[in-house]
Amino acid sequence: MPIHIRRERPGDEKAIFDVNFLAFGQDAEPKVVDRLRGNCPEGVSLVAEDEGLLVGHILFTPAWIESGRTTVRGMGLAPLAVVPKRQRQGIGTALTGTGLSELDAAGVPYVVVIGHPGYYPRFGFEKASQYGFRCEYDEVPDEAFMMIVFQPRAIRGIRGTVKIRPEFAAAMQPAGRVGGG
Ligand SMILES: CC(C)(COP(=O)(O)OP(=O)(O)OC[C@H]1O[C@@H](n2cnc3c(N)ncnc32)[C@H](O)[C@@H]1OP(=O)(O)O)[C@@H](O)C(=O)NCCC(=O)NCCS
Repeated sequence: MPIHIRRERPGDEKAIFDVNFLAFGQDAEPKVVDRLRGNCPEGVSLVAEDEGLLVGHILFTPAWIESGRTTVRGMGLAPLAVVPKRQRQGIGTALTGTGLSELDAAGVPYVVVIGHPGYYPRFGFEKASQYGFRCEYDEVPDEAFMMIVFQPRAIRGIRGTVKIRPEFAAAMQPAGRVGGG
């Protein structure tokens, strides 16, 4: 049976915790996921299911840019996790691609990620600094803060700092990586 990507549903919570714990080898990321589930109903949480087992998870939560009196809302991708035994089989790609398509179709103008510059450009992410945006965390390297823009008109003339949910501060790592990628 092929991998099935679907929305998180009630009862998935423990399996999602376990997927993130196994992928990251620590509980910082799964705890952030749990906090955001409670705090952030606008989040989009997708799972990859294989014969009833959850093997991957991705979460998108609100991001925003305050520029003068304007706030431009988008989404942030984090975390993305695939259990170690099932990595490099296209599951992360399927979760990311499905999530981005859903957000694009829903009219979300942009998505940001703090992640691996070797991974996310394949989906269309580019350095956010190319668009004139920076990350609120100074320790994040320029090339690790990326953005995919679905609606260029929404950010035309807008510059500044992109904010992400404060819950992610707990999962920031010394190298400036959030459990996103
Ligand atoms: C990163 C991650 C989500 C990718 O999921 P995946 O299902 O293994 O990825 P896919 O099979 O869709 O894509 C595989 C490609 O991703 C790239 N890739 C995988 N892990 C990577 C990493 N840590 N850094 C950079 N590129 C990576 C490789 O180029 C690989 O291609 P290859 O097999 O030709 O070498 C998964 O490895 C993971 O959960 N890692 C641990 C948790 C983590 O660090 N998450 C943050 C992402 S870096």
